[in-house]
Amino acid sequence: MGIRLAGLEMKNPVTVASGTFGFGLEFAELVPLEKLGAITTKTVTIKPRKGNPQPRLMEVENGLVNSIGLQNNGVEYFIENYLPKLKEIKTSLIVNIAGENIEEYEQVARVLSGHSGISAIEVNISCPNVKKGCMVFGKDPAMTKEVISGVRKACRLPLIAKLTPNVEDITVIAKAAVEAGADILSMINTVQHTAAIPGKKQTITGGLSGPAIKPTALKLIKQVRTKLPDIPIIGMGGIMGPDDAKEFFSAGANAIAVGTANFVNPKIVIEIIKSL
Ligand code: SIN
Repeated sequence: MGIRLAGLEMKNPVTVASGTFGFGLEFAELVPLEKLGAITTKTVTIKPRKGNPQPRLMEVENGLVNSIGLQNNGVEYFIENYLPKLKEIKTSLIVNIAGENIEEYEQVARVLSGHSGISAIEVNISCPNVKKGCMVFGKDPAMTKEVISGVRKACRLPLIAKLTPNVEDITVIAKAAVEAGADILSMINTVQHTAAIPGKKQTITGGLSGPAIKPTALKLIKQVRTKLPDIPIIGMGGIMGPDDAKEFFSAGANAIAVGTANFVNPKIVIEIIKSL
C-alpha cells in the first residue's frame, strides 16, 4: 500500500483534504491518525486570520458550501501548539499554506522548512473565499508560476500545488505549476457556488464540495493526467466511500484525499483504506 509521490512517502495512498480535518489532532479520539497515508492540515498563514463573517457553512443537496476564509491562528501558533504533537504521529504530515501575496507564501514556507517533522507543503492557490492570494493566483498561469517558484526557492520540502477547478483550462495552470517547481498536484479544490439560505432572503457564496462535484473532479484529473502523464496527482472532490476512491485512481490519481465525507462519518477514511 505504500507509495512515493516525488519526495513524499505515504504508507498508503489516502490522506484527508485540507480544511475538512482540522489540524488532525481534533480527530484523534475518533480516527487512529497513524493509519492515514498522511495528515493534511487546514491552511496556515503567516498571521492569524479570523475568517469571513457568518453565514459561512451550509449543507446543500449532495454537497456543502463553505466560505470560511482561511481562519487559523497563524504559523507561529501552529509550530508551538500543533507541530510537536503532530510530529509524534507515525505518518506523513502535509501542511497547507496560503498568503495574501507572494512574500507571505514564501515567509510561511521558509518558517515551516526550519522545523523537522513536515513531509510536504501544499500550496493553496485555489481557495475561492478570499480577496487576495489563493484563487486569484491559481486562475492565472503567470501568477501561478510566480507563487510556486517563490515557494520553491523558499523551501526544499516536496511541493504540492492545489489547483482550482474554477478556470477555463486547468491543464494550463497545472503545466505552469509544474514548470515552476511543483512536484505534485492536488485537485480539485471547491467549485464556486451561490446557494439560497432556506427561509431567508439571503445567499451564501463560497466553494461547493461533496458528491455534487465528483464528475467535475474526475473529468479534470483525466485532463491533467493526459497532458502531464508523469506528474503525481492527489485526487479529491466528492469521495464518500471506497467505490468513489477507486474511480479517482481510474481517472489517473496516484493518491486520494477524503474531504466532505469526514463531516458525515469521520471514520470513513479508515474504511476506505481498509477496503483498498
Ligand atoms: C476556506 O478556508 O475558505 C476554505 C479553504 C479552501 O478552499 O482552500
